[in-house]
Amino acid sequence: MNNTKETSREDDNKFFSKLQESGIFDDLRESSLPAIRLMAYYRCAMMEIETKFNVLNEEFSLQHDRNPINSIKTRIKSPQGIIDKLNRLNYGYSIQAIEEHINDVAGVRVCCSFVEDVYMLADALLKQDDIALITKKDYIQNPKPNGYRSLHLIVSVPIFLANEKKHMKVEIQLRTIAMDFWASLEHQLRYKKDTVFTESMAEELRICAERSADLDTRMSKLRAMIAE
Ligand code: GTP
Ligand code: MG
Repeated sequence: MNNTKETSREDDNKFFSKLQESGIFDDLRESSLPAIRLMAYYRCAMMEIETKFNVLNEEFSLQHDRNPINSIKTRIKSPQGIIDKLNRLNYGYSIQAIEEHINDVAGVRVCCSFVEDVYMLADALLKQDDIALITKKDYIQNPKPNGYRSLHLIVSVPIFLANEKKHMKVEIQLRTIAMDFWASLEHQLRYKKDTVFTESMAEELRICAERSADLDTRMSKLRAMIAE
């Protein structure tokens, strides 16, 4: 979910031409409609999840007089991103392959004020009876070796269309502002053109991740002290 730019219907229309250009989506070549419709369904699912978080934020701020959510970003995976991932996974190229095997077509990133808010929001979302948890990866409890921290959920959410109900997968990343700061800069640095990423640079980034985790802990303690 690195490109957080939202896609539009115009992007959907480009979807089919990209698939055609790629020449690999044979069973979609007959008509662009299924692919475009699928992308619209993912956009609906993403909106459902975003609304659920906005509702939780609203309720919490009434009760506690502060916002647990600092920002929400949404994005739909680009056609090229979908094609690259299907290539990598080797499940063939079809609507079914996308639905079954690509869990991050729709992505929602929730940046929270404090670490406690991350878990409070995840629990509140997962308690809702229309949400099914598919996978949970807690990179806050277990940071990645490079220092990356966030809570990742893949959930399934129903969307209600005129004549049917469809369950769509959405990738949710919950993190604090400090974790987001680190992840954004790390991503920029790692993908910088024509540079070699040395072990000492990686070590420096790990140290930055620890410092930023330390900031989160201190801020939480401060919040608890003030709340008392
Ligand atoms: P993909 O990378 O999407 O194929 O999924 P995965 O199965 O490896 O999932 P994982 O939950 O580990 O990561 C999914 C997403 O989390 C990525 O697409 C990034 O947006 C984010 N992410 C994971 N690791 C890192 C990292 O080391 N740095 C940064 N900046 N983002 C990361
Ligand atoms: Mg991804």
